[in-house]
Amino acid sequence: MEHLAIIMDGNGRWAKARGLPRSEGHRAGGETVRRVLGFCKDAGIRYLTLYAFSVENWKRPKEEVEALMSLLVAYLAGEESMLHEHQVRLRVMGQKEDLPEKVQAAIAHVETATVHYERQLILCLSYGGRTEIVSAAKRLAQLAAAGELDPATIDEAAFKGQLYLPDVPDPDLIVRTSGEMRLSNFLLWQASYSEFYVTPVLWPDFNRADFDAALAAFGKRERRYGGL
Ligand code: FPP
Repeated sequence: MEHLAIIMDGNGRWAKARGLPRSEGHRAGGETVRRVLGFCKDAGIRYLTLYAFSVENWKRPKEEVEALMSLLVAYLAGEESMLHEHQVRLRVMGQKEDLPEKVQAAIAHVETATVHYERQLILCLSYGGRTEIVSAAKRLAQLAAAGELDPATIDEAAFKGQLYLPDVPDPDLIVRTSGEMRLSNFLLWQASYSEFYVTPVLWPDFNRADFDAALAAFGKRERRYGGL
């Protein structure tokens, strides 16, 4: 498997079950991110994409949004050495300009510092699949209006070229934790032929055995891409 994508769900429920504030669930979720990066290295997975903050997540209470943003800044500052150690390139996809200045600065710093590594950790921040598709359509329309693009030549490759990270291959497997059976606006374009695996385990509890079970299930799938 080349590309694994994960919808990290259940931080809030994990915290609630322990009588802790939701922010503690996100903190524990950040530790899981660290672990899973190691599992991916061992499994030879080149791309790991994580759904960390959706465009819809801005609707959460201000305190929770602020706690998540602070956690991100702390995570980016704290994990830079780990990214170097594992030789992982950080990339962020989403409406970066909507993130607080301090988050944007932390992202820019770590993205630049790790740009030469081959393996990639892709964080989806202020990300929405529909937003991504609409912004690609808008960009194509702008190019056409400027006379730089013949609309008749727009095909799937041209469209993909305007997505956030066109060079990244589509995910082979999308894992969702905490049991929900939906895509929640994640990678709508890229997920066309991805396999989907849902585990009831809450993200802070997701461990090596759960990771291995997801990969084993993927190994048993027969991928036909609409063919026979
Ligand atoms: C879903 O749990 C999780 C999120 C909305 C945030 C994900 C963030 C992290 C795992 C930590 C920060 C990320 C990094 C990369 C350090 P939920 O709050 O929707 O849980 P619930 O459905 O149980 O309420």
